[in-house]
Amino acid sequence: MSPVAEPTTATRTPLHVTGELLATKKVGAYRHLTLVAPGVPERFRPGNFVAVSIGAPGSDTTRLARRAFWIHQVKPVGGYGPTLQLVVEPTGPGSQWLASLAPGARLEVTGPLGRPFALPKEPVSCLLVGEGYAAAPLFPLAERLRERGCAVNLLVAGADEAHLLSALEARRSARAVTVVTRDGSVGLRGEVADVVDDVLGRSQAAVVYAAGPLATLHAVAVAAEAHGAWSQTAVEQPLTCATGLCQGCPVPVVGEDGVARRVRACADGPVLRGDRVRWAELLGEAGEPR
Ligand SMILES: Cc1cc2nc3c(=O)[nH]c(=O)nc-3n(C[C@H](O)[C@H](O)[C@H](O)COP(=O)(O)OP(=O)(O)OC[C@H]3O[C@@H](n4cnc5c(N)ncnc54)[C@H](O)[C@@H]3O)c2cc1C
Ligand code: FES
Repeated sequence: MSPVAEPTTATRTPLHVTGELLATKKVGAYRHLTLVAPGVPERFRPGNFVAVSIGAPGSDTTRLARRAFWIHQVKPVGGYGPTLQLVVEPTGPGSQWLASLAPGARLEVTGPLGRPFALPKEPVSCLLVGEGYAAAPLFPLAERLRERGCAVNLLVAGADEAHLLSALEARRSARAVTVVTRDGSVGLRGEVADVVDDVLGRSQAAVVYAAGPLATLHAVAVAAEAHGAWSQTAVEQPLTCATGLCQGCPVPVVGEDGVARRVRACADGPVLRGDRVRWAELLGEAGEPR
């Protein structure tokens, strides 16, 4: 029987609201944004994301498709009540535009979206594996797991020091933290795939949560299965509508009934059971993982 309680999304209808950017801060390679988005933080669960409209209306910065961002934290700020924190890596037009905004900017935000992480029914040992900005949803998850009496172990990875998300905060959130960078500038040199087996063995985790590039999620799912642990993987696919309507974000899986099918990353995921995803097919379709 599954040790985790599968979440339902039905009771938490997402909202579409006009938000306001309260604060923005550069941390390493990322820009941390604090947003007021009335009603969205109250509905949030770890693993949810928001879709943000890009560009000033009527200008050439506008993009048709909204862009997806993990909710990193929900924190009360002054008289504003709960606010959302997002972590943006400025890579393309949308993320660069968001990262360039000044406090006071208005933003159209839809959320919280997606199926969140399932939480263990019992207080068990958990391993949380996050790479780059995608480690963002694991920090509020760590908080929830600790509240439930779970032992939290973290494996945080990035290309280099600048791409390690909140490594110091990670040390406060977890019983044990392992840091891996591709260039060896902090922690162990290498990739998640090089160390996850060892870390999993030491943590004796019953449930493994992972967020990062597809190849990393695949490596974690394989290691979890080898150790007899359950895995929950936060699968990022390019999203068009982000709300389940367009069917444009298919993920190949094997259903509960053992039948191969495709589910929508944005609405049936992004968090999916690692042992249900058909990784070879997904990685083949995605081409080179980012
Ligand atoms: C559920 C979810 C949560 C996300 N959370 C964050 C976050 O917290 N912080 C963050 O910086 N980014 C996050 N992303 C990724 C971000 O939404 C995309 O990179 C987005 O396209 C950025 O917009 P852009 O206009 O800057 O770049 P674009 O011009 O849209 O994209 C640049 C390139 O990346 C490709 N691409 C776009 N989205 C994806 C994707 N999801 N996977 C693989 N390739 C893609 C595009 O085809 C293009 O080639 C998340 C994505 C998803 C699906
Ligand atoms: S992006 Fe439209 S259904 Fe997922």
